[in-house]
Amino acid sequence: MKVKNIIITGGSRGIGRALVEKCLKEGHNVFVISRSEALLKEIAEISNDEQFRYAPLDLATIEDYQDIHDYIKDWKTVDVLYNNAGLLIKKPFQELTPSDFLASYKVNFLAPTMLIQSLHSKFTKDSHIVNVTTMGAVQGSVKFPELSAYGSSKATLVTLSEVLAQEFGEEGPSINCVALGAVQTEMLETAFPGIQAPVQPHEMAEYLYDFGLKAHQFMNGKIVQCSSTTP
Ligand SMILES: NC(=O)c1ccc[n+]([C@@H]2O[C@H](COP(=O)([O-])OP(=O)(O)OC[C@H]3O[C@@H](n4cnc5c(N)ncnc54)[C@H](OP(=O)(O)O)[C@@H]3O)[C@@H](O)[C@H]2O)c1
Repeated sequence: MKVKNIIITGGSRGIGRALVEKCLKEGHNVFVISRSEALLKEIAEISNDEQFRYAPLDLATIEDYQDIHDYIKDWKTVDVLYNNAGLLIKKPFQELTPSDFLASYKVNFLAPTMLIQSLHSKFTKDSHIVNVTTMGAVQGSVKFPELSAYGSSKATLVTLSEVLAQEFGEEGPSINCVALGAVQTEMLETAFPGIQAPVQPHEMAEYLYDFGLKAHQFMNGKIVQCSSTTP
């Protein structure tokens, strides 16, 4: 397979980290945005400099998304963008502050949106944007208390993907949304302490890898529900 240029947000741990490792193992060029520099350095230490690069940035505070281009000047195209980073704040609705909502919407909605906008010139008609959301963001799915900031902010990605697929049209990148069920990560432990998920991060990473590289041949503007349990 041709070497692809792949951007993954939230690649320092959890599902994103497993996805970074999978993409590197398959020989692709990978650029990661996450806050934890120490964790990103760990990946850098065991990978080839040409293949792996990272930006230790907080997606909630980036002011100019055009700065992202500085990290990928030599990439003519971005073949796959995984908007994977996520922020889950679990609190009763009455205790959620404006800052909680703002932080949730910045990381879960604004950052993916502005990344897509700023990278637009690097996408081709064969590029694929994969927005990672949650089953809790799917209309009509089973919902759980105290996840209103998280669920509502992640739900925006569903509509965004549908609208942009139309707006970009046949000449633009494809854009799809994957709504995940439970995967055994720190985030799941925060939302549902003690739960045992049926899926491990490396298993979900295998699925997302195939999805990112192949699914856009068959779908655009679609929401794929990827879950076998509730939650
Ligand atoms: N695990 C599940 O059961 C589950 C279910 C449904 C959907 N999802 C979705 O799957 C995606 C991955 O989740 P996960 O379970 O792997 O979560 P995780 O283990 O908590 O990892 C979250 C990742 O997002 C990054 N991140 C969070 N806030 C950030 C910020 N402000 N700036 C930059 N990076 C940020 C974190 O990196 P740093 O801390 O280094 O910044 C980390 O790499 C998320 O979008 C989540 O909503 C997960």
